[in-house]
Amino acid sequence: MVRARTLSSPEARIEASPFSLLTLMNSLFYHRHGGAGINSGTEALDFSVNISPISPPIGTLTLNDFALQAYPSIDGKGIKDFYKARFGLNNAMVLPLNGAIEGIYLLPRALGLRHILALSPSFYEYERAARIAGAKVTFLPLTADNGFRLPGIEQLAEALLHADAFVVANPNNPTGTEVPPEMIMALASRFPYKWFILDEAFIQFTPEFPDNSLMYQVMALKNVVVVHSLTKFYALPGLRLGAVIAHPDVIGRLLYYKEPWTVNAIAESVAMLLLNCGAYEDELRDMIISERERITTLFSGMEGIRLAGGAANFFLAQWNGGCSLDALFSWLAERQLYVRDCRNFPGLEENYFRFAIRRPVENDRLLDALHSASLA
Ligand SMILES: Cc1ncc(COP(=O)(O)O)c(C=O)c1O
Repeated sequence: MVRARTLSSPEARIEASPFSLLTLMNSLFYHRHGGAGINSGTEALDFSVNISPISPPIGTLTLNDFALQAYPSIDGKGIKDFYKARFGLNNAMVLPLNGAIEGIYLLPRALGLRHILALSPSFYEYERAARIAGAKVTFLPLTADNGFRLPGIEQLAEALLHADAFVVANPNNPTGTEVPPEMIMALASRFPYKWFILDEAFIQFTPEFPDNSLMYQVMALKNVVVVHSLTKFYALPGLRLGAVIAHPDVIGRLLYYKEPWTVNAIAESVAMLLLNCGAYEDELRDMIISERERITTLFSGMEGIRLAGGAANFFLAQWNGGCSLDALFSWLAERQLYVRDCRNFPGLEENYFRFAIRRPVENDRLLDALHSASLA
């Protein structure tokens, strides 16, 4: 069943900011009350942002390390070179971006999309970008009884009937559920005149990467476009690094609409430094994969909390404990722990929140606090 809905509240856009409103309100609350939390002096841990909890070893850099007196390359060459060396993608298939968000806004405009199909709940910016470009948006609801997974291929094909594009994140945010790549490829072959836009901002956190990425299919399927981000996996939201990966003809069309010099000299240089981060990548993936398993096991025996998703570096959780969700957030804030309130996403009004997977000792703090809240 497909349903249309109106524009989400502006509050949903907080997703794009590194600190959620809840985090901000909680920390204001905390400071206003003199820091008199249970563990005052303990470091605050922000589980509301779903970026890597560790940083890549790119050294201590100063502004003098970058050629800021000259314009950077017009097309973000440093990012192209990163994608070529790291993922083996030809330069002609890569459009460097000021973060994945630039691609999310560029695509509906440049491809002239009139009607997109998106998942609900999902990242709010797809809807906003489509509407700004004058496109209609139809939503395919994901439901708790199906673990927020995508419906089957025939239901998806039916939902796509009147749309000219399917915009979907793999894994999806905030549900943390995966999109089977073979299903997208089958649909892209069946509907060669519709676009399939895959947001793979979190894909490097999945154990199946790179086999589950569609970045290697864009030459065969010209109507498949991948948006990738270096923000989450390399913990660099402040730099703004990402790319569209598509057939060179599609890249040419996007270039026609794209503003020049959106990738600055610092971003371009740092992208190349990420090529020396193989050990960091292995350490991060091992940590996220083993913590994901450990958290899943520990939660399975916990009353009052149900987990969903978990394909990436975060979980969607539903609170069903003895107190309200707001009381749970206050309990966590007293312990300097912050999670993402998801009740402003359609379909997640019933006590849903999201938390990122962090380092083991940090996860223990959140798990302990949630466990004691569930017993209270
Ligand atoms: C699913 C998804 N895609 C893209 C982005 C934006 O990525 P970037 O920081 O590279 O613009 C976000 C940020 O929250 C996201 O959740």
